[in-house]
Amino acid sequence: MASIGKDIKKAKQLLESGELVAIPTETVYGLAGNALNIQAVTRIFTTKNRPHFDPIIVHVSSVDDAARYVTSIPEKARILARLFWPGPLTLLLEKKPVIPDLVTAGLDSVAVRCPAHPMALELLSALDFPLAAPSANPFGYVSPTRAEHVNEQLGDKIPYILDGGPCTIGIESTIVGFDRGQTRLYRLGGLSLEKIQSAIGPVVLQTGSTESPVAPGQLSKHYSPGKHLVLGNLSELVKKVGKNGQDVGVLAFAKLVPGVAPENQIVLSPSEDLEVAAQQLFGALRELDRRKVKMILAEEVPDVGIGRAINDRLRRAAAKT
Ligand code: TXA
Ligand code: MG
Repeated sequence: MASIGKDIKKAKQLLESGELVAIPTETVYGLAGNALNIQAVTRIFTTKNRPHFDPIIVHVSSVDDAARYVTSIPEKARILARLFWPGPLTLLLEKKPVIPDLVTAGLDSVAVRCPAHPMALELLSALDFPLAAPSANPFGYVSPTRAEHVNEQLGDKIPYILDGGPCTIGIESTIVGFDRGQTRLYRLGGLSLEKIQSAIGPVVLQTGSTESPVAPGQLSKHYSPGKHLVLGNLSELVKKVGKNGQDVGVLAFAKLVPGVAPENQIVLSPSEDLEVAAQQLFGALRELDRRKVKMILAEEVPDVGIGRAINDRLRRAAAKT
């Protein structure tokens, strides 16, 4: 198993020697390696079992740091970075040749993000290279929001997990790109569409599922627990399973549903707080996956703010292919 600790110097030394380290961010834990080192990046792909067509986000310590790796930063990107970095926002920007093609899966733009977790920021500022870091889970599975989640799945493949406690946002960053004069949102995430639009005006939603994604991460089946997840109206779903109610787990937004044992149910936020629900979501999916239930029944949350990102993850978790 990996060792787990809070030693930023140790993480720095490992990363400098080309090793991978799992790092905390405010969204989810990342599996980090030197983004400029092809061997380290190759290790990220193999450790996650990630297909090479799926590019990786590059983490930087500031906008100035980002400028070292991209050819230009459009005005709207600058506004967003000024307002929301460090934070749960990833910007797609045209890359400089110093960023290996392996990182971007051959695309001309690189995804860059300045994370808000203090330990991640301290580490990034201490390094003289940026960190390539996808979520620290096997490809397709639910992202980790605690050090233990990383350890359970990737612990035997990496030397060190930097423990920054539970992630405060709990859902991956929002991805925004600037394409032919239009601002496009490619992945709903921790920063809400509403906040982005109030800063820079209308944004085109480009989050549809696709089999061969332009901006990958749009694979329809993703963020999935091992168990079959069915999304719908909970009371109706419970009625349908009938006597088999003892074999199902329930992921509810605010209230327990009658007909299923309370110990097989997880309520995301009794006070209907979407931020809390987002924080709890991935841990709850992991927990239900571990329980002795045959399938998971879940319901959507109000489709506003970070609720949109929660619903997006639930739909992808429920997708069959
Ligand atoms: O919050 C986050 O973004 C977390 C933390 C660790 O920063 N990272 C994360 O990485 O969620 P990952 O690899 O699990 O998801 C990144 C998504 C993928 O769907 C990938 O396809 C997309 O970003 N992506 C990365 N680079 C891209 C690029 N150059 N162009 C288009 N999409 C890109
Ligand atoms: Mg991921």
